[in-house]
Amino acid sequence: MVVATLLVCVTIGSLAVALDRMPGRSRTPSAADTVRASVSDLHLRGRHLFQRHCAVCHGKWGDGRGEMAVGMRPRPRDFTSGIFKFRSTPSGYLPTDEDLRRTIRRGIANSSMPSFGSLAENEVVAVVAYLKSLSPRWEDRTAAGTVQPLGTEPLWLTDPAGIAGHRAAGEVTFVTHCAPCHGATANGVSAVASSLEDIWGQPCPPADLGSASLKSGPEPIDIFRTISTGLDGSPMPSFAESLSAEQRWDLVAYLVGFRHPDGLPGASENR
Ligand code: HEC
Ligand code: HEC
Repeated sequence: MVVATLLVCVTIGSLAVALDRMPGRSRTPSAADTVRASVSDLHLRGRHLFQRHCAVCHGKWGDGRGEMAVGMRPRPRDFTSGIFKFRSTPSGYLPTDEDLRRTIRRGIANSSMPSFGSLAENEVVAVVAYLKSLSPRWEDRTAAGTVQPLGTEPLWLTDPAGIAGHRAAGEVTFVTHCAPCHGATANGVSAVASSLEDIWGQPCPPADLGSASLKSGPEPIDIFRTISTGLDGSPMPSFAESLSAEQRWDLVAYLVGFRHPDGLPGASENR
């Protein structure tokens, strides 16, 4: 059956080549042809890399049903859904190429998603292009979000004297807005924790925010981005509308305090 299908493909393939070579059919490739050729070349390279490095978890078709995915918690992302957690775009929108690149390069702590530091830059570009062909959502222009500006880290964040008041303010905001899910001490233990699910129907417990490593990155700006844009598909909402930027930075100050009780090490240019 496979052999027969292959034979048919090969025959059709050689027929197409033969037709193309017939006298009178040859023409100089236009600029559009060149663009089309390089786009499909990128797609092919991306597909090859995806099958080699990603399919074992994310599945041959990108639907999250790879052979290693069985029993995995959290499950590998189903790319056919077009819903992404780690974005710099507002809740409900697709991530940018840079968001996908960051996730692939860094991996996702506290999950099975490895970091792919060894892929060459052009390989990451190809795999990102391929990943974006797995859901029709990428064709929908209205789904493409614009990056939500995060601004820069406030200077007080690395000033041990300055940060104290912001930590206290952050704790107050945490108790009202975050503790119901993350628990009073932010360790992920709460009354609702065991009932939270993601949109793919899998258990999705609230993160232990005192954990040594966070999924979306360890830096204050990463935590600020998560609080601002939310993690789509999971119960973690976006607080861009309900909390001011200052309140969100106060929360960051409170949360980094678990790992850096004596203040953040070094000035921001060192990090
Ligand atoms: C060993 C298993 C495994 C392999 C191999 C793997 N992933 Fe993942 N990946 C995961 C899991 C599990 C998640 C979900 C993590 C979560 O939801 O917290 C994930 C999530 C992701 C996400 C995050 C999507 C979002 O919601 O923002 C991206 C992007 C991604 N993977 C890309 C890739 C690419 C590209 C490759 C191959 C180069 C790859 N992964 C290989 C397990 C894997
Ligand atoms: C409705 C429940 C809910 C509320 C309210 C909530 N969170 Fe979350 N949060 C979650 C869940 C669930 C996750 C884990 C998502 C995942 O792993 O995919 C999460 C993840 C996070 C993460 C990412 C952790 C990581 O590993 O990168 C941060 C940071 C965070 N929450 C901060 C907050 C803050 C700050 C607030 C309050 C302003 C808050 N959350 C409110 C449910 C909630």
